[in-house]
Amino acid sequence: MTQDHSAPDLSEQARDILRRNDRGGYTVPTRGLYPYQWNWDSAFVALGFAAFDRNRAWQEIETLVSGQWDDGMIPHIIFHQDDPGYFPGPSVWATGKTPPTSGITQPPVLASIVRRLWEDEGADPQHPRMAALYEACLKSHRWFHTYRDPLGNGLVMVTHNWETGRDNSSEWDDALARIDTSQVGSYQRRDTGHVDAAMRPTAVEYDRYVAILQFGRASGWNHRTIADHGPFRMLDVGMSMELLRANRDLLVLAKARGDSAVVEELEARIALSESGMDYLWDEAVGAYCSRDVITGKSSGLVTNASFLAFYAGVGTSHQRLRLLDGLNRLTRSATYLLPSLEKGSRAYDHKRYWRGPIWLVVSYMVAEGLREAGHLEWADRIRTDSAKLIEVSGFYESFSPETGAGSGGPDFSWTAAMWLAWCGR
Ligand code: GLC
Repeated sequence: MTQDHSAPDLSEQARDILRRNDRGGYTVPTRGLYPYQWNWDSAFVALGFAAFDRNRAWQEIETLVSGQWDDGMIPHIIFHQDDPGYFPGPSVWATGKTPPTSGITQPPVLASIVRRLWEDEGADPQHPRMAALYEACLKSHRWFHTYRDPLGNGLVMVTHNWETGRDNSSEWDDALARIDTSQVGSYQRRDTGHVDAAMRPTAVEYDRYVAILQFGRASGWNHRTIADHGPFRMLDVGMSMELLRANRDLLVLAKARGDSAVVEELEARIALSESGMDYLWDEAVGAYCSRDVITGKSSGLVTNASFLAFYAGVGTSHQRLRLLDGLNRLTRSATYLLPSLEKGSRAYDHKRYWRGPIWLVVSYMVAEGLREAGHLEWADRIRTDSAKLIEVSGFYESFSPETGAGSGGPDFSWTAAMWLAWCGR
């Protein structure tokens, strides 16, 4: 029997996925594979809820922020209730927080999402739910500025590849290859019990991820020690662009609230990041790329995150033209935009995590940036391709840019959210 994939039906399916992944005030990314609350997943999921339940949308973010650390970090995972089906769980991270959390963060997209929710409700400067989240975002952005800007140029350093959200992108391969895994010991992975191992990181890669985690734990999750001496220190192009954008969005909120000291603070931060971004520009490949803090070396890889330049509002006309050339090139090797890595690049694999597959949340931010910059055809191409992927394959975690087949987990919350808030509209 052929399934009816007409638009209203898919919207109903998307709402249903969010309801089924709802664990009471927060949503799991997908059942089984990811049984807790993830940071940037929840931000995008809030946009999905906003299409049919405004209260639940705000609540998703409020629950996330309930796990914010005193130093300002919003953790990458909050372990609201223990689940033995996931590794590394709360006892491995051992951060000692209530609720239990991981010890690292994830992409700072929250302020951008809060701005959108708030504007959709009329942009009232006194909006009580916006006010609390504004403070949480400000605190989190200050945490980045204090602990994650080693060069003082407004870019974002990550101390674990999991922080980037593009977990095993080949951008991290060289830095990961230097990690000493001799003390890691044995552990039982859970991810490969949920999805095809051919899509997931290899055992050698996983040992390195665990070794970095163990360094943080041994430091007592001291973010100063981790930032100054951690074994993995990369300037991430994605988070650098996302934080710049989030600072711009937070600035809009600060202005509306008449918070003049914060306006000044954010304007200075924005100017710093705008000029700092050039450090990530790699003229040889014509794109912004992640760069290793320890070796100073550019990854030389054009990923979907490189195209967040439009979303962040950076780039000279020459740089933007080269990025558009890059998009053009992608249309020749990919059936669907926007792959996480270009075919032909080192380590490209259309099925393996972040080495080729498409993630709709990155596509959404890139398309929004292109639309705002006036590149409407590109924005529309990415949006319609994204919709087609869902129509053809359903609400998967990620999709092959070549065949459109779904990869990773099924019935995925943020994919459903992107349908409701963006590509299915
Ligand atoms: C994977 C992704 C990460 C995401 C998480 C939950 O780890 O790489 O970006 O937040 O799954 O969906």
